[in-house]
Amino acid sequence: MNARTPVFPSKTPNMGTTIFTVMSALATEKGAVNLGQGFPDFACDARLLDLVNDAMREGLNQYPPMTGVAPLREAMAAKIQALYGRAYDPVSEITVTAGATQAILTAILAIVHPGDEVIVLEPCYDSYVPNIELAGGVVVRVPLTPGAFRPDFAKIQAAITSKTRAILINSPHNPSGMVWTREEMLQLQDILAPTDVLLISDEVYEHMVYAPLRHWSAAQFEGLAARAFIVSSFGKTYHVTGWKIGTVAAPAALSAEFRKVHQFNVFTVNTPMQHGLARYMADPRPYLELPAFYQRKRDLFRQGLAQTKFRLLPGEGTYFQCVDISGLSVPEKNLGEAEFCKWLTTEIGVAAIPLSAFYGQGFDQQVIRFCFAKKDETLQLALQRLARL
Ligand SMILES: Cc1ncc(COP(=O)(O)O)c(C=O)c1O
Repeated sequence: MNARTPVFPSKTPNMGTTIFTVMSALATEKGAVNLGQGFPDFACDARLLDLVNDAMREGLNQYPPMTGVAPLREAMAAKIQALYGRAYDPVSEITVTAGATQAILTAILAIVHPGDEVIVLEPCYDSYVPNIELAGGVVVRVPLTPGAFRPDFAKIQAAITSKTRAILINSPHNPSGMVWTREEMLQLQDILAPTDVLLISDEVYEHMVYAPLRHWSAAQFEGLAARAFIVSSFGKTYHVTGWKIGTVAAPAALSAEFRKVHQFNVFTVNTPMQHGLARYMADPRPYLELPAFYQRKRDLFRQGLAQTKFRLLPGEGTYFQCVDISGLSVPEKNLGEAEFCKWLTTEIGVAAIPLSAFYGQGFDQQVIRFCFAKKDETLQLALQRLARL
């Protein structure tokens, strides 16, 4: 009998284990405070758990409709209308997904033909590039401005060709915490207006923008909304990253193509959580109060870091804080960001993520990212350790 596992050419030869997995494993092994991977170490609202539990006990445990349960799609449509002033039809324009990551992959698979170009603005969330490659697309990397991480419209304009199928944007931005202004959204709208370029707008941190700034959604701009898949994630908003539930809002023609891929991939997302979330959304306070909740943590963390030799970068949004390590007096700052983060985890007991992980070609600028979605005592412990540097 031939029991040999056949050898075949990898479709993803350059894909390795993500830095998030590596750093979380190292943090666990070394007993370090994990400010690396982006997830809260505190509980979600018990009422949300009760509502999911109620749904399960009511017997809402079988396959939901492919597009998601109606109450959740309706709640999302109402929220987008209330916050961003655009009416999406919950029947034909909102789809529930297994988190934002799946939503982005599905959108890419639905629109990108082999050889199509897709623009990403680097640094960017680590799934974008492999997703485009998996679809047979060509990744076109446009850097955000060095240090400030703002969109460079001359470079974006120059990157658009007759082969450009889509551009992916992310505001509030992981990893930099930068938030696009209204003027920047308008500039993007102007650049895209004469083209057929589609937009994937990753807005998973929409409720983490700090005063006096506000979130500008692609939904608020007629010319962007008409070409956009707008991606949201309940995991980020309600402190339940492990639930992996999100939504995509897109015009009916785009949603129809999205759903063709979704139905033969994920098909549906688990039923009781959808009902629980829909009921929980009847009260807008949890997401309206989120900026103040995280702003306090951000300020606590920034105040502590200001006492160290790290140089703080702006923290306009998200639950990430980037710091420049070039002013530290330890020689390990010159090891390169990734090696420095491993050293920081092992020797100082705090895990962080190197910014170079968010660049396809790896780009070292002596900047690392911390996540402050943590209990105050976790942040205090990390600050105590970082003060030793
Ligand atoms: C920019 C960005 N997009 C998408 C995601 C994934 O969200 P989800 O957990 O809903 O898949 C993350 C999670 O870290 C993210 O930072």
